[in-house]
Amino acid sequence: MSYVIAVAGKGGTGKSTVSSLIIRSLLKRGETPILAVDAYPNSNLPDSIGINIENTIGTVLSEYMKNRINIPQGMTKQAYLEMKLHQILKEERGLDVLVMGCPEGSGCYCGANAILKSYFEDLKKNYKYVVVDNEAGMEHFSRKTAAEIDLLLFVSNYSLKGIKTVERLSGMVDELKLDIKNRYILINQTPEEMDREFAAAVESIGIPYFGNLVMDKMIEDYDVRGIPLTDLPDTSRSVKEFEEMLRKVIN
Ligand SMILES: Nc1ncnc2c1ncn2[C@@H]1O[C@H](COP(=O)(O)OP(=O)(O)O)[C@@H](O)[C@H]1O
Ligand SMILES: [Mg+2]
Repeated sequence: MSYVIAVAGKGGTGKSTVSSLIIRSLLKRGETPILAVDAYPNSNLPDSIGINIENTIGTVLSEYMKNRINIPQGMTKQAYLEMKLHQILKEERGLDVLVMGCPEGSGCYCGANAILKSYFEDLKKNYKYVVVDNEAGMEHFSRKTAAEIDLLLFVSNYSLKGIKTVERLSGMVDELKLDIKNRYILINQTPEEMDREFAAAVESIGIPYFGNLVMDKMIEDYDVRGIPLTDLPDTSRSVKEFEEMLRKVIN
């Protein structure tokens, strides 16, 4: 059984950063094979983990919608689409990457959702871990394809507004009726010491606390220079602290 980790939160809070740190940790522990899924409309996870992506599920599905009359003879629609989807899976050593790449509300999944769902259910069996970098409320990907989530990690910035947003997103996720085994909140880009009242407010929303990542100059530098976060050294503070947080939840 694969272990599914979903990362959610508002744009710019650090979802891709956190997803990359998860992937880096799992790779280092040899917890492979891993499937990384970028469910964000304007994907940037592949850059953060140093992988080049040419095609997305969005492009395959819209091509399919346009050309479905030209499916090779003797091939079912399902088989054709699954073949096309498999072609865009970017396979690297121990880490495969799939990008949704569909602008929100474009409706390009219409009619193909059932096929996408069965494809994903099948695909996921091949991996020890699946890490999904989601759009804010997980409306598309998680509802349609990953109904079972072992670990849902909400990322918030260091603000009261941020944690209120997470509280709201968590409520939205409940409405999606997903099967979520564990959910946690991570506070990102904090100062060295967090404000006491803020920490109490985090506790009061009732989502277990995963931990915090400080505002890290090294992460900022890597981002400025376009270096993948999977290349962060073992000595990186965020890498070390994140590994410890993750180990407490999955050992
Ligand atoms: N702990 C951190 N320290 C420094 N910069 C960070 C940290 N976390 C995220 N960032 C920066 O904040 C920006 C947004 O992060 P990103 O992971 O892309 O957010 P999201 O995927 O939620 O939109 C990026 O420029 C990233 O490098
Ligand atoms: Mg992102």
